[in-house]
Amino acid sequence: MPPDKVLHTVNVSAGFEKLQILHDISLSLSKGEKVALIGRNGAGKSTLFNVIVGIVPQWTGKVFLNNLDITTKPVNYIYDNGISLMPQGGRIFPHLTIYENLVFNPKNKELTRKNIGMKIESILFENAPKMWEHSQKRILPRLDKNAGSLSGGERQILSIIRTFINDYHVLLLDEPTIGLALPMIFELKNLMCSKAQSGSGILFIEQKIKWSLNNCNRVYVMQRGKIVYEGYPKLLLENEELLSQYMGLNSMPK
Ligand SMILES: Nc1ncnc2c1ncn2[C@@H]1O[C@H](COP(=O)(O)OP(=O)(O)O)[C@@H](O)[C@H]1O
Ligand SMILES: [Mg+2]
Repeated sequence: MPPDKVLHTVNVSAGFEKLQILHDISLSLSKGEKVALIGRNGAGKSTLFNVIVGIVPQWTGKVFLNNLDITTKPVNYIYDNGISLMPQGGRIFPHLTIYENLVFNPKNKELTRKNIGMKIESILFENAPKMWEHSQKRILPRLDKNAGSLSGGERQILSIIRTFINDYHVLLLDEPTIGLALPMIFELKNLMCSKAQSGSGILFIEQKIKWSLNNCNRVYVMQRGKIVYEGYPKLLLENEELLSQYMGLNSMPK
């Protein structure tokens, strides 16, 4: 195995009750890479993320974080040891305060109400100035308010901050652009590039297909729980027919 692989799965199968959703999924993510996982709705993409982090048990196969077999490790072990997951829909905890949402991860314990602003500024200022502006106006002054009081877009920004705030080297982003205005989507791309440049691996699921293909080093296409394409995005960008075959006629790439 090349030394720079930070995450890989080997022949992972999983499902719910007796219904098999994932079939022999083998994929990998290396240091400094941005890898897109695309596919129609219901293909099994989120289920794969949930298997990787231990929320959904795998039936067969293995998951490795660096060289460590984490297949049977519980979800809190994985959250504590280097995978930062941004779940689909952001999924903040609406009944916890904004501050509690940000320091939920034990690795973020050193973040106090006093220093958290500086930390967020260090992440957002350069690469995501609009998100930083929103944070200054809507997030930092309201640290002790329930996160449920934020609007949809603000929740998504909170969720992005929560995902990028730690120094984890593996990021899993499940449809991170949902609910974001266009300038923020551009900023998210900057954040992802900067994180990858500093050596992290980012595996992301997206419905914005063109955006994904232009923003990744490699891509996997999932169809009915199987990986049907693995490679560089260029081929898919140049072949709309193949792409619409994978993504469905009604979801022409954006
Ligand atoms: N908790 C669950 N219980 C039963 N079936 C589920 C559950 N979660 C997802 N599924 C089913 O698994 C399939 C894949 O879902 P999902 O992984 O969310 O797809 P995607 O993220 O690619 O849109 C779908 O048919 C979905 O209905
Ligand atoms: Mg999904």
